[in-house]
Order: sequence, then structure tokens, then C-alpha cells
Amino acid sequence: MTSFIIDCDPGHDDAVAIVVAAHHLNVIGLTTVFGNSSIENTTRNALDILDGAGFEHIPVAAGASGPLIGQTKTGEAIHGKSGLDGATLPTSTRQAIEQDAADFIIQASHEHDDLVIIAVAPETNLAIAMKRDPTLASRLTEISIMGGSTSHGNATAAAEYNIYADPEAAVRVFESGVPIRMVGLNVTSTFGITQTELDKLHAGTGIGRELAGALQFYLDRQTSTYERSHAPMHDTCALIPYINPEWIEYQPLHVVVECMGTHTRGMTLCDLRGSVVGGGIANSENSNAQVAISANTTAIIEQVVSDLLQD
Ligand code: RIB
Ligand code: CA
Repeated sequence: MTSFIIDCDPGHDDAVAIVVAAHHLNVIGLTTVFGNSSIENTTRNALDILDGAGFEHIPVAAGASGPLIGQTKTGEAIHGKSGLDGATLPTSTRQAIEQDAADFIIQASHEHDDLVIIAVAPETNLAIAMKRDPTLASRLTEISIMGGSTSHGNATAAAEYNIYADPEAAVRVFESGVPIRMVGLNVTSTFGITQTELDKLHAGTGIGRELAGALQFYLDRQTSTYERSHAPMHDTCALIPYINPEWIEYQPLHVVVECMGTHTRGMTLCDLRGSVVGGGIANSENSNAQVAISANTTAIIEQVVSDLLQD
């Protein structure tokens, strides 16, 4: 059986991904990192989400409080000061485990022979773990990333937040040799939950009701920031290949992460020439990642709402 670790920075869409993953996958732990808020907040939020959803058995290991190099840039503009503003979850009585995120990932790679990392945050923990144990990559089945984009960014015109927050870490992950799946903004930002789904959560029971206030905050911020009428479920998309592979189409592409560009630092440059101008220059032989290009958005949102409404 495949085991999963979710490396996350809850974060509203992380919260939904955690609930969906725990319903469908053998999640052996969460590792937390800075990103949508401070490491203290993302770790607290992770514990509150797991306990609020009845998954108290899943441990949380806290990780990096900032990027490998450079300044820490948080996503508080979208997720609020706490990283999960609007939530009405009871405060968990649990603490994160003693082991840090990198050691938790390394130990899990020895204990589980089929281990997938769902990376839905800045990839600093993975980069640290790979540096701490250079043999780690050989023991990971796959890394499924929510990050990057084949087109536009969100943190900047070129860069998606998870990559932009720590580009050097992303380079280490993409160059690690572990099979990579990448679902980026070109797919994840095009759909999400709308007020219609939110009204069902407000009227529902279980964790969906507890998270409804948070997701209303998240939707309202999406509307005020991007003039969007949907709240993207970015991070849930990284789970879909293991829940229903039919729902997101991936294509083998060559991807590089830009670290030096004045205007493009944090960009994932995906070589689409093979699909635009036909084979030859860039085709599947040159690929280093499976990159998402389309999704069955209706099926994914229906699954999200169904899982959130489960008691
Ligand atoms: O750009 C979207 C990503 O940044 C998501 O993982 C979201 O949670 C934020 O971390
Ligand atoms: Ca995230």
C-alpha cells in the first residue's frame, strides 16, 4: 500500500487537501513549513484541522521557518494573519512531534517502501531532507507538487507562490531524480468552490461546517484580490492522481526553475515546444516531470464537497 506524507503550509486550500487526503489515502503524517503564514501558525493550523476532522492519529512534524536563502515571504495577504482566518476549529491539545520535518521524512522513507510526498507548500523541507540524507531520493516513489505553472504566476507575473517562496529548494527537488508530478496555476487557478458550494458547507455538518467560515474568508479574499468568483482548491489537485487518475491529465515536459531572473525569479519554465511545434526540439524524451494540463473540474469539486460534508 502507498503511504503519503503531506508537506503543507495550512492555509485554507491546504486545509481542504488535508481533509480530502485523510479520507482517501494512507496519510502517515503531515510536515509543516512556513508559507501561507509562519511555521508556528501553519503547525498550529495543521493540528487543529486534523483533530477537528477526527484524524488525531496523524502526527505533525514541524519544519523550516524560512527559505534556504533570501527573505521569508508569507501568503498572509490571502490567508490572513493566522494563516487560516475565519476558521472556527477547536484548538487542538496536541503538539507537533519532537522530530523535525526533514528527519520525519527521512525516517519514513526507511519504514515505508512505497512513499509519496504531496508537496503543497514551499519545498524547503524536502530540500533540507535531501541534503541531510543524499540517499533519500532513491527511496521515494514520487513527489506530487502543487506549484509552478505552464503560464501565469500569482506571486509575480511569472512565478507561482510555492516556488517563488524558495526557488533554490524547488531546483533541488526538480533535480533530485525522484519522479515528479507538477500541477500548477494553469490548472489549479481556473476553478474552485463558489458561494453555491459554500452555502452547502454553511448548512452542513462535520468539518465542512467548521471550515465554512474559513473558506468564506478565503473566497472573499479571492474576490477582492483577483475579482474571482471561485476559491481555488490548489492543493487538493496534487492528490487527484492517487484518488482518480482520470480527473487530471498530465503531460511529460521539461521543466526548469529560474533563480536568477530579475523579473522571472521563481518561474517554472515548462518547455511546451514539443506540443506546440510538434516533436523534435522538446519531446517526452527530454522531460523531467509530468505536468498537469487539464482537469475534470466538476468531478474534483463534487468530491471536495462530499468529503467536507462527511461527518
Ligand atoms: O500558489 C498556490 C499555493 O500557494 C497553494 O499551495 C497555497 O496554499 C499557497 O501555499
Ligand atoms: Ca499550500
